[in-house]
Amino acid sequence: MAHETPALRMTGVSKRFPGSLAVDHVDFEARVGEVHALMGENGAGKSTLMRILAGSFDDYTGQVEVGGRPVTLHSPAAARDCGIAMIYQELSLARKRSIAENVLAGRLPCRRFGWLDTGAMLEQARACLARVGLDLDPRTPVEEISQHEAQLVEIARALGHVPCILVMDEPTSALSREEVDRLFEIILNLKRTGLSIVYISHHLPEVFRVADRVTVLRDGKRVGTYEIGDVTHESLIEAMVGGAASEHQTHRGSNLGAPLLHAEHLSRYGFFHDVNLTVHEGEIVGIAGLNGAGRTELARAMCGIDPLDEGRVVLNGEALRPRNAEEAIRRGLAYLTEDRKTQGLALGLPVEENIVAAIWGRLSRRGVYRRTEGRAVASRWVDALHIQPPDLRREAGQLSGGNQQKVLLAKWLATGPRVLVLDEPTRGVDVGAKAAIHRAIADLARQGRAIVLVSSDLPELASLSHRAIVLREGRVIGELRGDALTPERILLAASGQPPPAMDEEGAT
Ligand SMILES: Nc1ncnc2c1ncn2[C@@H]1O[C@H](COP(=O)(O)OP(=O)(O)OP(=O)(O)O)[C@@H](O)[C@H]1O
Ligand SMILES: [Mg+2]
Repeated sequence: MAHETPALRMTGVSKRFPGSLAVDHVDFEARVGEVHALMGENGAGKSTLMRILAGSFDDYTGQVEVGGRPVTLHSPAAARDCGIAMIYQELSLARKRSIAENVLAGRLPCRRFGWLDTGAMLEQARACLARVGLDLDPRTPVEEISQHEAQLVEIARALGHVPCILVMDEPTSALSREEVDRLFEIILNLKRTGLSIVYISHHLPEVFRVADRVTVLRDGKRVGTYEIGDVTHESLIEAMVGGAASEHQTHRGSNLGAPLLHAEHLSRYGFFHDVNLTVHEGEIVGIAGLNGAGRTELARAMCGIDPLDEGRVVLNGEALRPRNAEEAIRRGLAYLTEDRKTQGLALGLPVEENIVAAIWGRLSRRGVYRRTEGRAVASRWVDALHIQPPDLRREAGQLSGGNQQKVLLAKWLATGPRVLVLDEPTRGVDVGAKAAIHRAIADLARQGRAIVLVSSDLPELASLSHRAIVLREGRVIGELRGDALTPERILLAASGQPPPAMDEEGAT
């Protein structure tokens, strides 16, 4: 059956924010049963274009047709009624509420007199979860499930409204490889049922795997729409950045100094067991492993955030037992979490205030904040990490997702830490920004900082680290260095198939 009428057609659509035309006369179309990728650099306008579709704005201009019918999408309800569902870049579930309440939000089954029909609720919720392959008790509070599960819950919720167009904004940025595989299976199944899926991603290999067509945006404008078979990695990058892709190679420094961070026999029952690790001045040590291997838990414990059941951490010759974040910072330790939402970017405050937030005290004299100095610090990091737009007064919440991530990194780098623990530092940032962040990390190491890097991005881990320990089920199963430190080897080791030549001595 030929589908002449596209599921979605946007014509000449624009959205202006004070000071920026985020979406500039864009034409965009999605066929029935198509996966259409939307790509572009951080701040290109991808999320804004899709938020127009989700009914976030009542002041966009241009035409939208759904199933050949002109529609006005001035509210989320209007979008939902048109069969449009969106899964946001930042998950939007109510964490304290149960899975069922989240999945069925807005359409909880009621008996007469408005009593909640609990039995029906659980049954409906289970049916929704089954569509995304989740077998969880719908009564579980969302805060108790993993990020991956939360994301599937979010998809289940979106599907509950029987959409014809499903938008996913960077759905895989928090997922491990197996989880991505499962998600893709779900996407392909949904596609077979005739759903159109718009898929925003920075990840080229994924786009080639899952998309039928791809549209590239740059500076709010559409550069082009291509059949996936007609483009290559290089041509897509070129379309995104507007020129030939430049290869950013990071170079590891080779001068290692004294040990700075030393972890001895660290155990937290149920999470990791007997981990030993020493990180020297100038060294970047990777922690590799699949999701659930205990990487984040280990990183947190090494920073004194989570309690240890056994072992101890020595920072610069002195035992580390920080009672709060300030003390850790004072001792020269910075921790960047994988979860940018809870790590507290103050979205309503300007970029400048966010960058200096952790060193406010240091920049103040007798209680008075020294604005000129603060501004100089902030502006140095805005330059170094290419934060866009380079406007210190802009509210952080008005930046695109990737640029918010850069502000968060700047905040911790500005503390001038001697030891940095980075958990997924480039999640959700585009190719160019990623290179800038890699350069910043390599520079810090060259200046003698000690860095622990947790990353699911294996090429990143392999190219930045001097060596990497591999965790599986909370245990160090080996260490890779030199020529053995490749994405393929890391993956093999992490999934439990250590290649014969692997160094099995464990971490030093
Ligand atoms: N609420 C807002 N107020 C002002 N400007 C905004 C607002 N939201 C987004 N912008 C601006 O609109 C532009 C497009 O942002 P958008 O979030 O759509 O980018 P994106 O392509 O999704 O980027 P990323 O890959 O980083 O998520 C950016 O310049 C951003 O700063
Ligand atoms: Mg975005």
